[in-house]
Amino acid sequence: MEITKRSFGMLPDGSEADLYTLSVGEVFKAEITNFGGVIMSLWTPDRHGSAADIVLGFDDLQGYVNKHPYFGSIVGRYGNRIAGGGFVLDGVRYTLAINNGPNHLHGGLHGFDKALWKAEPQQRDDAVGLRLCHVSQDGDEGYPGSLECEVVYWLTKGHALEIHYSARTDAPTHVNLTNHSYFNLNGHDAGDILGHEMTLFAEYFVPVSEVLIPTGQLQPVENTPLDFRTPTVIGARINFEHEQLRYGLGYDHTFVIDAQGRGELRQAAAAYAPESGRVMEVETMEPGVQFYTGNFLDGSNVGKGGVPYQRRNGFCLETQHFPDSPNQPQFPSTVLRPGVLYQTATIYHFSTR
Ligand code: BGC
Repeated sequence: MEITKRSFGMLPDGSEADLYTLSVGEVFKAEITNFGGVIMSLWTPDRHGSAADIVLGFDDLQGYVNKHPYFGSIVGRYGNRIAGGGFVLDGVRYTLAINNGPNHLHGGLHGFDKALWKAEPQQRDDAVGLRLCHVSQDGDEGYPGSLECEVVYWLTKGHALEIHYSARTDAPTHVNLTNHSYFNLNGHDAGDILGHEMTLFAEYFVPVSEVLIPTGQLQPVENTPLDFRTPTVIGARINFEHEQLRYGLGYDHTFVIDAQGRGELRQAAAAYAPESGRVMEVETMEPGVQFYTGNFLDGSNVGKGGVPYQRRNGFCLETQHFPDSPNQPQFPSTVLRPGVLYQTATIYHFSTR
């Protein structure tokens, strides 16, 4: 197990971003940059033992500096949408940056995906890691409170990628951190993910409006094309005539893992690619997981090795609280108050079959 560091280039403001390579043997590796906390590459073995890079991304820093659909990024302060770009907290109305139709998405115009995080290599008996820290100032993108965040990535000997998030604030605010990796278990350049088998351990999903804001209810997955309680090929029903698939242009929904939001580590999802044999299982402490099938990719993002990423070339499993929770009091709360430690974790396990 080892971690090495090299320069990833210069940001427009003259500061330097680094790229860390975390390796566990020859076939389990990740490259992570402290710019946006981006997982730039993730190499795992297929059923014959040969490694491929299974996350979408860019070869160079500029790709991540430019506007892009959050490839591999840490998303904050708030993963997914907040309706109308605002909320009332303790009787005070806060106005956030609006960057997605009428809504606030993924932390705004300059979210955590555009921050240069402080990085520090970590070691554990069974893992090699990278600790990233970022302070989001009071008023950042409209949010109250100065928020100190820490994200630790671990690559373990057992072929897991662990992500541990923590944060503290000096004034009441909302926090909902996640990682926005796009996976293709056949390789980032292997075309669409429609042949992958997906399991989502969810009885309910969060239905949304045309602008992808929750209606406020939870809807049973039963008798809908969003029922993934048993392994189902992603492409099998993605084009079915269903209001929710029409609004999402495919799957772009939060699946409910724990409606109570108790913060216990639970099985959320499992994906299997029959072609390569790769399996990815996801456990999380979060109440939900956003299953997004790359519906908005259109070939305009030219990624690693010059590969244009087309529609549905990757899928995301963003573990998170439900979208728009600041305006939906019936959802598990995303409020963080001074003196309380925000702590959550998600584990992606890799194996083959
Ligand atoms: C959202 C999508 C969005 C994508 C890229 C996902 O988390 O649910 O609607 O297009 O991120 O921003």
